[in-house]
Amino acid sequence: MAILPLEEINNVRMHADIVEVISSYIPLMHKGKNYFGVCPFHEDHSPSMSVSAEKQIYKCFSCGAAGNVITFVQNYENVSFLEAVDILAKRYGITLSNAINIKQNDKNTRYYDMMDLAQKFFQNNLKTELGIQAREYLQQRGLDKNAIAEFGIGLTLTDRQMLYRLLKSKKYTEKEMDDVALVNTHDSPYDYFVNRIMFPLHDPNGHIVGFSGRVYYESEAAKYVNTRETIIFKKGQILFNYHRAKPFIRNEKAVILVEGYMDAIRLYINGVKNILAIMGTSLTKDQIVLLKKLNAKVVLCLDNDSAGQKAIYDIGQLLKKDNFEIEVIKLSGAKDPDEYILKNGIEAFQKNLKEPLKYFDFSLNYLKQNKNLEQAVDLVNYINDVLLDIAFEQDPLLIDVTLKKLATDYNLEYDMLKEKLQNITANKNNAEKTEFKVESEIALKKQVKNNTYQVACKKLLFYMINEAKYIRIYQDNLVFLDNLNFREIAKAIIYYYESNKTISMADFLTYASTNERFYPEVLDIINEGSEEQLDENVFMDYLNSIQKGNKQKTIKELKQSLKEELDKNKKIEIAMQIAELKKGSV
Ligand code: GTP
Ligand code: MN
Repeated sequence: MAILPLEEINNVRMHADIVEVISSYIPLMHKGKNYFGVCPFHEDHSPSMSVSAEKQIYKCFSCGAAGNVITFVQNYENVSFLEAVDILAKRYGITLSNAINIKQNDKNTRYYDMMDLAQKFFQNNLKTELGIQAREYLQQRGLDKNAIAEFGIGLTLTDRQMLYRLLKSKKYTEKEMDDVALVNTHDSPYDYFVNRIMFPLHDPNGHIVGFSGRVYYESEAAKYVNTRETIIFKKGQILFNYHRAKPFIRNEKAVILVEGYMDAIRLYINGVKNILAIMGTSLTKDQIVLLKKLNAKVVLCLDNDSAGQKAIYDIGQLLKKDNFEIEVIKLSGAKDPDEYILKNGIEAFQKNLKEPLKYFDFSLNYLKQNKNLEQAVDLVNYINDVLLDIAFEQDPLLIDVTLKKLATDYNLEYDMLKEKLQNITANKNNAEKTEFKVESEIALKKQVKNNTYQVACKKLLFYMINEAKYIRIYQDNLVFLDNLNFREIAKAIIYYYESNKTISMADFLTYASTNERFYPEVLDIINEGSEEQLDENVFMDYLNSIQKGNKQKTIKELKQSLKEELDKNKKIEIAMQIAELKKGSV
């Protein structure tokens, strides 16, 4: 791992204003002293992340994520700490002394290397004589050499030990091969994939983490087989084509979602590059978080069958909760975007893309499906569904227009619809409030459980991280903290201060983030203290309650040994110690 001097890191940290940097990733609102935004590190739709311009830190009230500008970039971009420093240095035109080879050694490097090797091996198989039939298949599906190269498409053959032998010759252990599910190593080792066209699957950072193998000949077998879940492959945490499409999506401020690999590939090679495939028909929470990071509107373009239409409706319902702007494109006369483009050309697709349907309008129509609106029961159900939908809309004009339209179309009282909607909205808001209340109650209970001693320790450390004065008071008073982690943090604070002659929370965080053992605790300390106005009297109260706690603990221990001690003289000695300690302490 390349090492950068702390001063250089702090210099970058100082130049990269946290509000400026974070607002380039997520929208921030100015409120009072701080800025607020929707936290990108957990699934959320209310602005629970606060960013302090003064302290140059961020924290999320909901998931507890906290840190400085560097850790934000680190977590948002999913890169190492030093890579984040590098990104910010480039952005602010700062030259680093050790810019080369800043990429940190990832603990999964050997796995990624193994996946890369497998991918190259599969790709090569496709070029051999045994790959003729597969090559013909791909050609007939309209994938030329460039497309095959760009997407790293390959082939596995019928020999069930080919990859195993290769990996073994490269000194990978059987356990490693099994860890990433390239080879089954239970009895005699055999390759996981055979006789399939291989599509590499990448994580959001572009590492190959798995494969999907497609049959290319008449077969009863499943059309696609995926790598099983492994240390590096979590299907619910990836979206096909994410690493390639990311810059294009940010540029266009729009992401097109399709169902299948072939749909995504078809669009991408035809120049529509802001494209992701969901690899099936639902979205996980993690995938929604990935989408949220893109800060783009979502255009749903799923298959033309009833499953695809239902998926559009369901995904739209999910995304709506996160306030995504959602559009739908419907391609008629083809089963999926791939077929549509092969049939009608990319221009026809582009034309559809220019005339999308708002998700709201799509769902009004979708909800009518399979209902006979001439019948009272169906009509009531329909109106209820629509009102539930409208309750999520923000635009009062849209709400009013829709209510009026419902009233005229179905000959209903506008006022009655409006009242019903108001009831639904009130219920919905109550439900949200309850959710919030439950969350804050949990937080409260957690605090009460944290006894006063612990809280005092944390607050004490919080003060010390913020101002040198408190470090000196701590040292002058010879405070003992009855918790190894806290003691280590105090030591680190003192060390940091003595070697830098100054301390600030944002910079101390940088330093602390290199220590896996106590970094989470440091974040916790910052989280709990962040609303605190520094006040020396309050600090002394914390300090005193810690000293008092220590004393009580010692007294308790002495009392115990008093009980156990048999020697009379020693008993007296202990009793005197206890009396001494108790003096003035209660
Ligand atoms: P083609 O038939 O080659 O055009 O595939 P496609 O990419 O258009 O896939 P389709 O629309 O049939 O299915 C959408 C996605 O669902 C695929 O890209 C796969 O990710 C997934 N999928 C489809 N069939 C299977 C299967 O049999 N097993 C698994 N695990 N996934 C599948
Ligand atoms: Mn298809």
